[in-house]
Amino acid sequence: MEYLPIFINIKNERTLVVGGQEKAFEKIELLLKAGSKVTVVASNICKEIAELKANGHITHHEELFSEDKLKGCKLVIVTTSKGSLRMDVVKKAKENEIPVNVIDFPDLCTFTMPSIIDRSPLLLAVSTSGHSPTMTRIIRSRLEAMLPLAYGRLSLLVGTFRKSVQNSLQNKKERRYFWNRIFSSPIIEMFLSGKEQEAGRILKNEIDTIGQSTQSIGQVCLVGAGPGDPDLLTLRALRLIQNADTIVYDRLVFPKIMQYAREDAELIYVGKKSANHTVPQDQINQKLVDLARQGKMVVRLKGGDPFIFGRGGEEIEMLMESGIDFQVVPGVTAASGCSTYAGIPLTHRDYAQHCVLVTGHLKEDGTGLNWESLVQPHQTVVFYMGLSNIKKVSSELIKHGMSPEMLAAIVQKGTTRNQKVFTGTVAELPEIVDKNDIKPPALIIVGNVVKLHQKLVRAGFDNQILD
Ligand SMILES: C[S@@+](CC[C@H](N)C(=O)[O-])C[C@H]1O[C@@H](n2cnc3c(N)ncnc32)[C@H](O)[C@@H]1O
Repeated sequence: MEYLPIFINIKNERTLVVGGQEKAFEKIELLLKAGSKVTVVASNICKEIAELKANGHITHHEELFSEDKLKGCKLVIVTTSKGSLRMDVVKKAKENEIPVNVIDFPDLCTFTMPSIIDRSPLLLAVSTSGHSPTMTRIIRSRLEAMLPLAYGRLSLLVGTFRKSVQNSLQNKKERRYFWNRIFSSPIIEMFLSGKEQEAGRILKNEIDTIGQSTQSIGQVCLVGAGPGDPDLLTLRALRLIQNADTIVYDRLVFPKIMQYAREDAELIYVGKKSANHTVPQDQINQKLVDLARQGKMVVRLKGGDPFIFGRGGEEIEMLMESGIDFQVVPGVTAASGCSTYAGIPLTHRDYAQHCVLVTGHLKEDGTGLNWESLVQPHQTVVFYMGLSNIKKVSSELIKHGMSPEMLAAIVQKGTTRNQKVFTGTVAELPEIVDKNDIKPPALIIVGNVVKLHQKLVRAGFDNQILD
């Protein structure tokens, strides 16, 4: 280990920055955040530092650096571009045994400043000991993405109960077990989904009743898994899948996504095919309630977005009626994912000013859809579940005034490595399905925007599809 990572308390302590430009400003901001009284020595200061000075946040000396400026300083940061000044400050700081950091000169530093992820009071520091700032930055941004902003407030909440838990559980091992249980319980997700007061109340109750057997609290998270490509999962969806005790999932959830589940997670398949319900909806609803009542952190994983032709509304109704805590996490819906990966913008200034998402799952007589409203100029119509009624879709659109020559596309298994895009006219749709033996899942896009598919594909449009 080249350096010892430590966190220094500089609240109300003096620190010195030698240099007055942008880099100095970045460091001054950090020092001020940590509560330090900052002195800046620089003949010229940038606009931002001048503003700090005008607002009384810093002390500024225009005159040359002299050793007396180091008096009482806990740290020195040097950003000046003047070589002789730099060397002088470093020499004096070392003689006075004051830690010194020189930006861009790791060999002159007695301490380095890590890249930080600030979820105060939670702080994460990343450093390559000055070897690769780029690598530090990349790792930092990955960690940033993994840590919800609410983690700071969560650590404050947990901190307020630390003493009570210490008083109730004298044994260190028992305390660790208690906190592990809390951190893998739905209380944390409840907090992160914005129900902070409720989570605090339940946590307090857990602490007040340590040693007594209480009913565990479960939660159901209705999570949109997107149309296929696992890279399209939201950060929250990924975190929930990785933490779930049980995942209840659909046929449309891409198998690779299930690999993010914990090894010991229980995986329950409730996939259903149109008109052939493997597990009836009311049984799925009941299952979710039962699992949550066992105190489990349940993820109900659905293809696309749970609220777009996903029956998410029905599932949360039952959860609400049963008093089960829940949250809904949106996902990339098939219309958005498939059209993008196929190079078909759903709206375009020249071709479509509105876009309608409709179900092609029709009643026997084709009723249930307002066909007139679907045949409008400058409009894109996206049919979900339209494959089995493709003849009806094609004929009803034409019957209600759409030109048989209107362009249409079918995107099969969109966003996956097996994605296929077929284009033709509205009149040709049934034939395209027959001839190519197209199987679900497939999305039908109707409108002049389909012209752009040919253009974008010719221009080499190609999305990065993972499976
Ligand atoms: C029951 S709906 C579920 C829609 C989902 N909730 C969403 O937001 O995408 C199923 C239909 O979505 C469309 N679909 C879902 N994933 C798809 C994919 N990867 N490629 C093409 N169509 C897809 C198909 O039309 C399929 O029949």
